[in-house]
Amino acid sequence: MKKIGIIGGSGLDDPKILSNPKELAMDTPYGKTSDRLVCGAIGNTEVVILARHAKGHSISPTRVPYRANIWALKEAGCTELLATTACGSLREELMPGDLVFIDQFIDWTKLRTLTFFEDEVVHTAMPEPFDAALRAKLAAAAEALGYKYHGKGTMVTIEGPRFSTRAESNMFRLMGADLINMSTVPEVSLANELKLPYQSIAMVTDYDCWKENEEPVSYEMVLNRMRENAEKVKKLLIKMAE
Ligand code: ADE
Repeated sequence: MKKIGIIGGSGLDDPKILSNPKELAMDTPYGKTSDRLVCGAIGNTEVVILARHAKGHSISPTRVPYRANIWALKEAGCTELLATTACGSLREELMPGDLVFIDQFIDWTKLRTLTFFEDEVVHTAMPEPFDAALRAKLAAAAEALGYKYHGKGTMVTIEGPRFSTRAESNMFRLMGADLINMSTVPEVSLANELKLPYQSIAMVTDYDCWKENEEPVSYEMVLNRMRENAEKVKKLLIKMAE
């Protein structure tokens, strides 16, 4: 039976959208999850929510226990994963407030464990790391709600916690990235290793720092924009689950 796992990013770590929520503490071979899983339902669909950075945002992107989180969501019976993430835009047309259902990533992380397969040699193919069926459903849900969205895009994930320099921001544009964040990798690649369909819901919060005449990104800017737009993402998640 279908069970949706939702990994909530900054500003969406406690969406309170479940009926009959029950907290579940989980330990895994990879340690504890970021926070307790919250298991419940939206309509008739079973849903499990996990706050990526813990409620109150106490875990930095580098230290998120990505392996424990993905393992635990699978262990809890999730059959597909939706992940919300704030991100910067590297393109004029991807505007703050827009939703992007990304279809590619570029890994620019440096300090993370990227695989479950440490003691064996497993090379997972990843030409299409995100799930096209979930992407189509998200597009239909966004359409029904009248939201502006983009049906594809390439996310570059940087290590952080600092934001990029202007030179880096311009380099990422040249490389072909459309959006920038600190959390899509290795979450998506680990989900692929466990054969769990995964799709990100990226919410544009800023223009990073490449764009002239725009205030460069700051953490306050990201959180304010996420707060302003959290309702939108919540409604989208509810529509998806229904
Ligand atoms: N998250 C939100 N905006 C970001 C940016 N500009 N760079 C990296 N991560 C982000």
